[in-house]
Amino acid sequence: NTYVVIMAGGIGSRFWPFSRTNYPKQFHDVLGIGETMLQMTMNRFKDICPPENVFVVTNKDYKELVQEQLPELSDNQILLEPVGRNTAPCVAYASYKIAQLNPNANLIVTPSDHAVLKQDVFTSVIREAVEAVAKDDILLTLGITPSRPDTGYGYIQYINNESQSIKKVKTFTEKPNLELAKMFLESGEFVWNSGIFIWNVQTILRAFHQHLSDITEIFDEGSAVMNTPEERDFITRAYSQFRNVSIDYGVMEKVDNVYVMLTDIGWSDLGTWNSLYTINTKDEQGNVVDGDVMLYDTKDCIVKTPKDRLVVIQGLEDYIVAEYDNVLMICKKTEEQKVKEFMADAKSKK
Ligand code: GDD
Ligand code: MG
Repeated sequence: NTYVVIMAGGIGSRFWPFSRTNYPKQFHDVLGIGETMLQMTMNRFKDICPPENVFVVTNKDYKELVQEQLPELSDNQILLEPVGRNTAPCVAYASYKIAQLNPNANLIVTPSDHAVLKQDVFTSVIREAVEAVAKDDILLTLGITPSRPDTGYGYIQYINNESQSIKKVKTFTEKPNLELAKMFLESGEFVWNSGIFIWNVQTILRAFHQHLSDITEIFDEGSAVMNTPEERDFITRAYSQFRNVSIDYGVMEKVDNVYVMLTDIGWSDLGTWNSLYTINTKDEQGNVVDGDVMLYDTKDCIVKTPKDRLVVIQGLEDYIVAEYDNVLMICKKTEEQKVKEFMADAKSKK
């Protein structure tokens, strides 16, 4: 009864120029380990359920990339969105589709932009989580101990009941401003939302009906065509009516049956250059280098350039130097939130 839904339709704009509209970060071997982030995500669940129970939701433009990288999936396991409307429609689509195949399904919904370093811990955490949601009507997420007031995450305040590993959530705040994030961090009462959710398909569908009825009205009308040849046309029509809304804002902030499992799974967001810098081993000068690079008087930089280009750098400190497919970006590490803007501006230049 266990199913995995991999969300892989984002464009990863904070990871430009590696992440491109036609080749977003989840399809890259970001860590240089011979596996793309999507493949890493798939492999993470190999002891949880058979590959037939894994579904990937992505944009129609990435169909071939998914097929190439996960050849074990059949076409019915690759859910194609005509346009990206953020994660709420994505989760709803997968939920309706899987509910029709198995109304009792327990779902693990996962992003595809993370590393999980402690695989064994992860597997046992997920097993415990699935058992919990099979029994109780709860929406469960994995919580991560925060290390900095990062505004890119969801913050979860929980009721500290020492005796239980699964805690009731008091508040869920998606992407707070910096001031709030600092307060949350200092209070010690909050964990980050990992973005990995576990729930029974009926529980999440109820939450959607309650809080995102504009989405469920459309899906309820068309649910009979799910898993039939008419599904594609229906989805095209449906998505043209959806607004852009994430599961975090649309559901998690609003429901009152959210629980969190505090975990130490070696979680690391690979969404940004700084996160990639943090997770990698540094040389003596604190540099992370991937490419044919000569460094002089250079400290605390992350350099990722094509293997066939010799790069010489002198006198840089705390910079990102990244080249991919004819775009070279040099940006202060502390200013990486601007990368999103660069991507948008570069697009309008063409
Ligand atoms: N299919 C599909 N369609 N997938 C999408 C879409 C979409 O329209 N938009 C985003 N995704 C995928 C991304 O590829 C990523 O794997 C995942 O969904 C999460 O989306 P992000 O855009 O990366 O979300 P975020 O990082 O800003 O925030 C989420 O993750 C944080 C942890 O990294 C939230 O859940 C936060 O609360 C959480 O802290
Ligand atoms: Mg992300």
